[in-house]
Amino acid sequence: MWRNRRRMLGLLLAAVCVSGCGGQEQPREPDRGAESQSGEEGQSQEGQGEEETQVPRFWEMHTREEMIGADYLLYEVNCAGAETGELGVYQSGADQEYGTDQVTGKQWGYRPADYLRAVEDDSGEGLTASRWEIGEDADYKEETGFYYDFEVPAGEYEVTLGFYNPFSARTLCVDIEGKREVDALKILKYKLTETQVPAEVTDGRLEIKVYNPDRGTDAMKDPILSYIVVRAVPEYDGELLDLYLEETQVPEEYADRFTRKSYEAYQESREAALALVSQKADTEQYREVCEQLMTAYKELKEVKVYDTFQVGKRWTDDEGNLIQAHGGQVQRLPVRDEATGEMVEKWWWVGEDKSAGYRGGIRAYSSDNLYNWHFEGVVMRNVDSRAQLEEEEYFQELYGDYTSEQLDNVYACLSSETAVIERPKMLYNEKTDMYVIWFHADGPTEYSDSNYAAASAGVAVSKSPSGPFRFIDRYRLNTCPPDQEDFYPESKGMARDMNLFVDTDGTAYIIYSSEENLTLYISKLNEEYTYLATDPESAVYGVDYVRLFPGAQREAPALFLRDGEYYLVTSGCTGWAPNQARYYRADSVLGEWTDCGDPCVGDTKMTTFDSQSTCVFLADEEKGTYIYMGDRWNSEDLANSRYIWLPVEFDGEGGMHLNYLDEWSMEDFQ
Ligand code: DGJ
Repeated sequence: MWRNRRRMLGLLLAAVCVSGCGGQEQPREPDRGAESQSGEEGQSQEGQGEEETQVPRFWEMHTREEMIGADYLLYEVNCAGAETGELGVYQSGADQEYGTDQVTGKQWGYRPADYLRAVEDDSGEGLTASRWEIGEDADYKEETGFYYDFEVPAGEYEVTLGFYNPFSARTLCVDIEGKREVDALKILKYKLTETQVPAEVTDGRLEIKVYNPDRGTDAMKDPILSYIVVRAVPEYDGELLDLYLEETQVPEEYADRFTRKSYEAYQESREAALALVSQKADTEQYREVCEQLMTAYKELKEVKVYDTFQVGKRWTDDEGNLIQAHGGQVQRLPVRDEATGEMVEKWWWVGEDKSAGYRGGIRAYSSDNLYNWHFEGVVMRNVDSRAQLEEEEYFQELYGDYTSEQLDNVYACLSSETAVIERPKMLYNEKTDMYVIWFHADGPTEYSDSNYAAASAGVAVSKSPSGPFRFIDRYRLNTCPPDQEDFYPESKGMARDMNLFVDTDGTAYIIYSSEENLTLYISKLNEEYTYLATDPESAVYGVDYVRLFPGAQREAPALFLRDGEYYLVTSGCTGWAPNQARYYRADSVLGEWTDCGDPCVGDTKMTTFDSQSTCVFLADEEKGTYIYMGDRWNSEDLANSRYIWLPVEFDGEGGMHLNYLDEWSMEDFQ
């Protein structure tokens, strides 16, 4: 809305400039520069005092309305590039050699030099996709650098320079109007560095030079330059504030089109601005509220409302943030309605929070329709230091009654530095009215530095599904009976990838990879769902637990019940890389499981459509629609792993089939 209007006004102004801003002028060389340092050439005509006074002032040339519409943008130069982003009102192209702009008539551009080298960079985008470099064979002189000149009326401007540096760190200097304004700015490797400089122009031409006087003979210190943005500086006063208030008005009925956070920030800044209307304020106060208001207005984030599953695409919550619930579980969960105190059912999604990368806590989201999700919070946080457990109120409230040893254990199991928290699943226990989370709790131990040495199952409980969950402990679970072949006798009771399942009689089970991921186990939980039904020492094989497919090396288990038959979807063990799914069927949870092969249809790469199972749930009881939930892990950037949700189809014999769809909705399945 705002951007379009700003663009329209920008173009309108550009059109006005063609006829009114000297469009017929011939290109001319700027009369300064690296190679032309002779006294004569160095003399600028505009630099002579007499003419300087004739240069019109910016705010005599432009109205405030125009400039608000154009976001004050005069030039946005994508150095050495062709791709335009926002075009400033004085330019019609991304970059140009110094001369007359063919559309706006303004004179601007870079000063050509033999040493200039235009370079494209695939790792950047938009303004960082290209840059100027110094050619390798350049005869680097003191004056070598990047020179730009921009025709502007007399006035105050804000110049932003961007450097997207793929090389080793180096420093840069920037001269504006012949004066060093940025000194030895450090630009780090693979980083975008931006600097903003105020500039006052009196002679109608803004002169910018980017260089490195410390370069010496070291080509590794050559300057680079990615972009230059020139904006007019508003004159802040009560009149401008009124205009801003008018320009940024959002009808109240549009409020729910925006994320709550961004709308609240907008409202807050608007209230501050309105409060200043009737007061006498100084320029600085006007500047502050105007800037805040405009920023909040531009940052109003529209809520994306989904009515389909867009498989493998970015999926954002109702605040516009990427959903972080990997290795997760979706279920219809009884939840207490805060207003009435009644139990109601909601869709509930728990999963790994990978927003900070590999290590993180557990998040929950709720929904009424499975497409649109509301972030309920990080329901189990991990811990930054041992001290934090005793010092931060959040942890004090959870662990105030823990002994020092217990706190040591909490820290070891939830540390944001070492703990691995994966595949969390939640259950509601009606008897205790508590929510219980089980998760793959891993990390180094006193015997091994490996991230997967602990190989345990963690338990946390809370009165609310939105947390905070109090971590109880992590456990090794059942072991291979002596009369069976243990595929990993070196380490007993291991538990890694896991899931939970509650049977029709209310008995809960944990399904997990054990024996160094070579054998799956299913173990019965106690009535509270907080530990095994029977200690591993006294657990009875076939009653308290079973081993499935010994040596078959399966993980990522997802167990569900359909028409009295139990299904178990699994993956192979290939780290974050996807592999071929395999599913099994049985008449009871601890019963005989039959291998039914790969459920995927037309999965030519045999990678479960590039996903790994995490949950299968009944999405529509009436229609009998089950959804397969998988993770498409992005091992380089786990936070940007995607979700693969597909409808599960069943044939007449109960065989399960997964077909790939790019986009689908529940209505597609009757
Ligand atoms: C595969 C598991 O299924 C994931 O949960 C995770 O543990 C990765 N391995 C780590 O490589």
